[in-house]
Amino acid sequence: MSSKERWLETTWPRVRAWLPAPPAVVVELGCGSRGGFVPALEADGYDALGVDPQAPDGASYRRIQFERSELPDDADAIVASLSLHHVADPAAVLDRIAGALRPGGSLVVVEWDWERFDEASARWCFERLDHEEEGWLHRTRDRWLASGLPWGTYLPGMAAEHGLHSARTLIDRLDERFERRRLERGAYFFAELAQTSEADELEAIAAGQINALRIDYGAIKP
Ligand SMILES: C[S@@+](CC[C@H](N)C(=O)[O-])C[C@H]1O[C@@H](n2cnc3c(N)ncnc32)[C@H](O)[C@@H]1O
Repeated sequence: MSSKERWLETTWPRVRAWLPAPPAVVVELGCGSRGGFVPALEADGYDALGVDPQAPDGASYRRIQFERSELPDDADAIVASLSLHHVADPAAVLDRIAGALRPGGSLVVVEWDWERFDEASARWCFERLDHEEEGWLHRTRDRWLASGLPWGTYLPGMAAEHGLHSARTLIDRLDERFERRRLERGAYFFAELAQTSEADELEAIAAGQINALRIDYGAIKP
């Protein structure tokens, strides 16, 4: 199983738990090139639409930026997994989400708190990298080592280079528009670490060896 498949398979039950029961219209913002949760949503009886410039072909997808796409104005739920930190203008995208949701509709956001990706957490991950599948953690390690910079200098530079929004900014902007129902932290790296389970990562978090970088945010549109 690839790291992406591991991530989606582990994340899906938690996303699903915050959705209204099917039938319901669910839009996924930034579903990615594999379609994200759209196949699982459809298998469970949802009317699903995945919006992403890299979305796959098919009637259930729109290959365009969310803020430029034609959307319903009465969706029952919107899901955004690891996509909001990438958008150009979070406030504009969140306004668009608010416009696409019906009153009382659910917003489910999965994010990562990259500002808390400290050197201890980075070293813990780099020691556990799988050598058969090269993913973003490999690239991060290699570029950091090549930079010769201290981790505390390298990380904000990497975030600025990729235009990443912080979790703090996103949560503030979300809370301005939606009624928050949950904000939980959890394991984020395990999917990239083939020999490391989610339970292993949670144990390291509980032992204070690494930070909990995953954020599960749930809210409703007032
Ligand atoms: C890290 S990937 C996450 C993919 C998938 N949701 C997951 O959890 O594995 C981020 C995705 O967000 C998409 N994305 C970035 N900006 C976007 C925008 N404005 N509208 C829609 N998708 C966007 C990217 O194209 C990319 O596929």
